[in-house]
Amino acid sequence: SDRIMLGPLVAAVDQGTSSTRFLVFNAKTAELLSHHQVEIKQSFPKEGWVEEDPREILQSVYECMERTCEKLTQLNIDISNIKAIGVTNQRETTLVWDKETGEPLYNAIVWLDLRTQSTVERLINKTPGRNKNHLKHKTGLPISTYFSAVKLRWLVDNVLEVHEAVQSHRAMFGTIDSWLIWCLTGGRNGGVHCTDVTNASRTMLFNIHTMDWDPELCKYFDIPMEILPKVRSSSEIYGLMKSGSLTGVPISGCLGDQSAALVGQMCFQDGHAKNTYGTGCFLLRNTGLKPVMSDHGLLTTVAYKLGRDKPAYYALEGSVAIAGAVVQWLKDNLGIVQSSVEIENLAAAVGTSYGCYFVPAFSGLYAPYWEPSARGIICGLTQFTNRSHLAFAALEAVCFQTREILDAMNQDSGIPLTQLQVDGGMTSNRLLMQLQADILCIPVVKPSMPETTALGAAMAAGAAEGVSVWSLKPEDLTAVTCEKFEPQINPEESEFRYARWKKAVQKAMNWETT
Ligand code: G3P
Repeated sequence: SDRIMLGPLVAAVDQGTSSTRFLVFNAKTAELLSHHQVEIKQSFPKEGWVEEDPREILQSVYECMERTCEKLTQLNIDISNIKAIGVTNQRETTLVWDKETGEPLYNAIVWLDLRTQSTVERLINKTPGRNKNHLKHKTGLPISTYFSAVKLRWLVDNVLEVHEAVQSHRAMFGTIDSWLIWCLTGGRNGGVHCTDVTNASRTMLFNIHTMDWDPELCKYFDIPMEILPKVRSSSEIYGLMKSGSLTGVPISGCLGDQSAALVGQMCFQDGHAKNTYGTGCFLLRNTGLKPVMSDHGLLTTVAYKLGRDKPAYYALEGSVAIAGAVVQWLKDNLGIVQSSVEIENLAAAVGTSYGCYFVPAFSGLYAPYWEPSARGIICGLTQFTNRSHLAFAALEAVCFQTREILDAMNQDSGIPLTQLQVDGGMTSNRLLMQLQADILCIPVVKPSMPETTALGAAMAAGAAEGVSVWSLKPEDLTAVTCEKFEPQINPEESEFRYARWKKAVQKAMNWETT
């Protein structure tokens, strides 16, 4: 039968905390043609520890690629039209592998992991004035369990295999992007050991002004610089696929998932912002060519650098550790729903939390508090409270956390956002979107194609020099349309609930030390 003529196609691997996806887009319209998704197992070997298996992650990428190619072939779409592949990934998650055997030397330590809490407290106590922002002038980040440097330090100190590989110059460190690109481009047979500026900016070893690894930071965390990947822009050819159906296709885009969503939402101008609801929830606001340091607990991070000779753009970021993960917890740990999508109907059945507040500080609290000793609480319970109220309170928690970040963002920039662009898995929950508009008191705008993270990585890959099939012009992306949720409750009601939430947060703080 006849092959469908579509022109160039561009693909992306989206390796997130809970799942891996491979997606193929039409490079002219941004239409999503086909995709495949595989869940990723997380293990919790001790309280506060979160690990994933790097081999399973790599396998899931190959499986998603092959299945998507099969689906395209069934649709009569010629996979040889795929001109470029972008990689986007959960950020900060850290692993070390042996460059001679190609084998990971320990599980990947996931960004949410809290095992380094005591190390972080010790480091902060050693700084003048016990200042968690001691390294912020270079990194844009507070000292926290969240970033890669402390996880890498833990691996070198606690895993004999890692220690030995470092000693014998066989160790390679990477975040998930580096691991995947190294493996996909050949692994121990000539694989490329690199990362991009956005992923590098989340390690705490990277200087966001010089745009390179910082010898002083590496010394501070006692990390040998030879194990670090080479830092590249977010859009250039890193190498070619070495196996599978897509052998020979250039890998030419790389962005941390939150940066990729910013690109996919086309937030290319100073002041443009988006919020992505995944395992966690991350609001990024483009601040243009200058890094803006926050006075309200936000991070300063590299937004993207779309080409070797292109300038780097920066963003202010509000990071929330637990968003989709709270629904997962209600499902896996309490069993009040069988699948995540049921949460919407369960919460909608009551339409109120009935005064119940749920602060899911499972991994401490991130922005704007950066308090690793916070722990989750559910308060305001009465005899009347049931699982529907709990479900509602969980969804509200995601919205309140976003409100805290939006407030900080507005204070830092002085120019309040008038609407919020959103994306990510949880945005299919319409109740959540309406609640979010109600609690922010501004409209929430959702694209019809929710896979903006993958779209951003695919755009970066397609725009790379030597590939150049994607224009990056918003007006060309005809497949992208939006839906708007307007606030429906009065601002007084919204403020009242938000003030209660703030009280609940105070109860969750310093839990371990009080
Ligand atoms: O910083 C962590 C973030 O990149 C993870 O994103 O989508 O897996 O929650 P997600």
